[in-house]
Amino acid sequence: MDITTPKGTYDIIPDEVDPSLMWRQSYLWHYVETIFSKNAKNFGFDEIRTPLFERTELFKRGVGEGSDIVSKEMYTFDDKGGRSMTLRPEMTASVMRAFVEKSLHNISSVHKLFYIGPMFRYDRPQAGRYRQFFQFGVEAIGNACPEQDAEVIDLLFSICKDLGLNNLMLNINSVGDKESRANFSQALKEFLTPKKDKLSLDSQNRLLNNTLRILDSKDPKDHEALIGAPSLNDFLNEESKENFAKVLRLLDSLEIPYHINEKLVRGLDYYNKTVFELTTSSTGSQNAIGGGGRYDGLMKTLGGQDLPSVGFAIGIERILQAMIQQNVDLPAKPSADLYIIALGDLASNFAFKLTHDMRKASKIVEMDFSSKKLKDRLKIADQRRAKKVLIIGDDELKNNKAELKDMLLRTSQEVSLSSIKDSFL
Ligand code: HAM
Repeated sequence: MDITTPKGTYDIIPDEVDPSLMWRQSYLWHYVETIFSKNAKNFGFDEIRTPLFERTELFKRGVGEGSDIVSKEMYTFDDKGGRSMTLRPEMTASVMRAFVEKSLHNISSVHKLFYIGPMFRYDRPQAGRYRQFFQFGVEAIGNACPEQDAEVIDLLFSICKDLGLNNLMLNINSVGDKESRANFSQALKEFLTPKKDKLSLDSQNRLLNNTLRILDSKDPKDHEALIGAPSLNDFLNEESKENFAKVLRLLDSLEIPYHINEKLVRGLDYYNKTVFELTTSSTGSQNAIGGGGRYDGLMKTLGGQDLPSVGFAIGIERILQAMIQQNVDLPAKPSADLYIIALGDLASNFAFKLTHDMRKASKIVEMDFSSKKLKDRLKIADQRRAKKVLIIGDDELKNNKAELKDMLLRTSQEVSLSSIKDSFL
């Protein structure tokens, strides 16, 4: 077929034969998503779902026009009513929009929300980077204290631990409050402007509107130009410094390992104070499996109350890829507990009802609908990884009997049909 998935997208399917694409199997997605939501619920987070598209203005104001996401990567279109819409590139701005729109602050002063869903960024696809990708994320709204920062980081680690991931490194930094950040950005701009020609092309473009991002550029030209640059740490006010020190002390008390990375500023404009990224040695160049931080001013920017907030999002593709690269124990693909093969019309009618009844006990029961030879039907049962097969013939049915095959042990036994439900379930 000449119509394929759009570039940078992929299908999540039940069976993937290519071992390098195993992470695309839907049962593994269910598994990780269950661990995400179980952990989030244990930490007191409730689920929120918002539309896949929003008014473009939300991301311009929320994520920031200077960010790469807004300036280069948005899927923006005019709807039939001429309104500019954008497929969400992230969900923090959407969560804030929903919070303000629904006046959730009237219900409680603290809200802890989590989400799972697709995001869209028009970026150059490569390993670990897609145009449609999935995030699991949390946003804790209403608490300005360092405990809240440490709690979301604890949740992030708790999830990774439950998934069996190793070699994790939390890079953490404080970008200070809005004023410290703006002052530092101005100082950096003044330092780099005379060296503009020495910067990479990307950084030259960032100099005016997204100066801080030059700090975490991977280009050696930028590293050279940054030698002797002002340090973000020197611009932090006392309150930001104390706040950060407390976050670190709390992480120490939980024995969460971290690395203070003074160059970490994150790519979205809304952050202040604590920012962090979780990396693993196993996901190559796109090695951030998650990132987040505090974004106290965002709600106000979007026209709401001035509630402090902190959160993170992890990329589900990168999580699954890391799990496979690290050879963590993965669950077995669910398969039929019982596969029923009927030989003959009477047996078929009986088996159809039996299949229906057996499913009521939450067992995975399948019936073979093919009219192939028994040998071929057993082959299908094998392909479907059935654990047991019940073969019912018209004659056996008259005698209330059937054959039960154990597909793993390769044994079979005669069973009474009246007791099959009891003996099997
Ligand atoms: P972000 O760092 O842009 O943060 O994205 C979080 C995670 O999403 C990344 O660490 C990565 O795992 C995954 N990700 C991002 N872009 C792609 C892509 N093109 N392909 C595959 N995976 C990708 C945010 O989105 C913030 N909203 C996080 C946050 C929540 N901050 C506070 N609250």
